[in-house]
Amino acid sequence: MRATTARAYPNIALVKYWGKADEDLILPAAGSLSLTLDHFETTTTVVPAPDAEADVLELDGAVADGGQTSRISVFLDHVRALAGREDRVLVRSRNSVPTGAGLASSASGFAALATAAAAAFDLDLDARDLSRLARRGSGSACRSVAEGMAVWHAGDDASSFAESITAPDMRMIIVTVNRARKAVSSREAMRLTAATSPFYSGWVSSTEDYLTQMVAACAAEDFTRIGEITESHALRMHGLIQSTVPPIRFLNPTSHAIFDAVAEARESGIEAYSTADAGPNVAVIVRPHEAEALAGQLSAFGDVRVVGPGPGAHLLTDADEVPAAGDNAAAADSPVAGEGSRA
Ligand code: PMV
Repeated sequence: MRATTARAYPNIALVKYWGKADEDLILPAAGSLSLTLDHFETTTTVVPAPDAEADVLELDGAVADGGQTSRISVFLDHVRALAGREDRVLVRSRNSVPTGAGLASSASGFAALATAAAAAFDLDLDARDLSRLARRGSGSACRSVAEGMAVWHAGDDASSFAESITAPDMRMIIVTVNRARKAVSSREAMRLTAATSPFYSGWVSSTEDYLTQMVAACAAEDFTRIGEITESHALRMHGLIQSTVPPIRFLNPTSHAIFDAVAEARESGIEAYSTADAGPNVAVIVRPHEAEALAGQLSAFGDVRVVGPGPGAHLLTDADEVPAAGDNAAAADSPVAGEGSRA
């Protein structure tokens, strides 16, 4: 075994994953599609700790609590099973996204951890198997293993992985309206949705339909159709989530105001479309040359950041890039630093 460091970026889904077919294997009820970003990275180092009795997780320079550590340990058990080894490890992870606020920090987190841990345990995984492994940590993490636009296939343990597809170039404007950790985790909210919403089966079947249309729109470089599906599918997901018993609402009045402002921008000739994950922050897709102008308009609602398609999860080999123990520079530089930890 050896110490290894990997970096991964969050992804924002344009066709959302919401609901599991298998909770243990983290198999989705339907396929999904997302854009892996080029900002808000997680950098994770896995250090062998042969004499330790338990895994240790250090997040943004502080030792993590038991709940977070046990989630990582359960994931590392998969890695250990694949490697046929029992070694415990120290995991040092630095996030530059607000954790648990609907900006997919679990995706970058588990994609980076899967990549670093697979290398630390000398597993020789191809991109497909690495994506399958990341999926076991957090479903959406399997998409952050792949660069740019990526489809996550529904299926069984062997066939449920993410892979990149070609798509027209675009930018995403991330409007951060609230950096607080969300009150209900995606995992819990998905469970409640499947158990209590009368609309759940319609959601699953219509998601597969939209995914087919979205893949075709990406292949045709049809930005308008990509945008229409993106916004419609996001609103369907939030409608579905609000239909749970008891109801859950992730969007707040500012989120809705951003959806309205983007619709107005469309009227005035800037073609853009909104989406939001399990939190109040909004992501807006737009053609590259119109991104800065629209970001200026949306800055009235919160912090804005224009991001683009980013790389898949990868090992860091450059010694200069690998953060040293106790070095919290990456988090301190982030506009959204200090928001706790991935969960
Ligand atoms: O992978 P999880 O458990 O964090 O779930 C992600 C769910 C959404 O972000 C709301 C949708 C998606 O496809 O990323």
